[in-house]
Amino acid sequence: MLRALNMEPIDDQAVAVSKITATDVKKVYSTKKSQFVALDRVSFHVDAHEFVSFVGPSGCGKSSLLRILAGLETMTTGTLSISGHEIDGPGADRGMVFQSYTLFPWLSVRENIEFGLTLKGVPIFEKRAISDHFMELVGLQKFARSLPKELSGGMKQRVAIARALANNPEVLLMDEPFGALDPQTKNSMQELLLRIWEKEKTTVVFITHDIEEAIFLSQRVYVMQAHPGRIRQEVVIPQGLRENLDCKDSESFIKLKKQIISLIGAHEE
Ligand SMILES: Nc1ncnc2c1ncn2[C@@H]1O[C@H](COP(=O)(O)OP(=O)(O)O)[C@@H](O)[C@H]1O
Ligand SMILES: [Mg+2]
Repeated sequence: MLRALNMEPIDDQAVAVSKITATDVKKVYSTKKSQFVALDRVSFHVDAHEFVSFVGPSGCGKSSLLRILAGLETMTTGTLSISGHEIDGPGADRGMVFQSYTLFPWLSVRENIEFGLTLKGVPIFEKRAISDHFMELVGLQKFARSLPKELSGGMKQRVAIARALANNPEVLLMDEPFGALDPQTKNSMQELLLRIWEKEKTTVVFITHDIEEAIFLSQRVYVMQAHPGRIRQEVVIPQGLRENLDCKDSESFIKLKKQIISLIGAHEE
């Protein structure tokens, strides 16, 4: 009976379906001697074209959550779907950018960006057009032939972002992508990511332990806590917060930052 009901056609106009829906996700890591609850009762949603961050102290399960979303790790219990489909392993609908540089060292910038397209057998002229577009988007046109070892950390992450986007994923999953960069590079990468997000309208799930970064980039922030990893609160970032250039010094920004710090119960890093 339920099955039959589920198969009724859904009127897209009437039902707003989230891009990602997670309900009561639990992750237990088991070793021979013990069990460790890394995530417990984690429920959230991410709408299409939304930029949502998860912020929380080290060890609160942020990377576990992202790996589960990526399909690289299984959850112990709970439900998790993207565009209405249960996550069942990695898929081309999700692009990933991690903190550590995951470029292929023997491939040029262009070949790295084209990697997924090559696997899919995309014709060369189409592949070139796509890699041109994304190299321009991240400002690396002049480095098409360079190898990763010739690039700075920020440039490598720009290639990683371009490579993820070139596959036209439904969702971009990012785990502390700017965590290893110096503050100045980090700031310019944040601004670049925002420009890309506004232009490409990608749905972004962004993991960070940097509260300022989460507020600056996101429309909504899920604040997590550790032991066990849980969502403590959802914080909606007011539209227009980023409007002035020095927004990180503005009163409303600092107020939000204090609010999140007190939620986490941690001191500023
Ligand atoms: N493969 C694993 N086996 C056992 N414990 C793990 C594993 N991966 C992560 N953990 C533990 O789960 C907790 C959450 O880790 P993680 O998801 O990496 O948190 P975060 O990214 O927020 O720092 C940590 O206490 C970590 O030690
Ligand atoms: Mg982590």
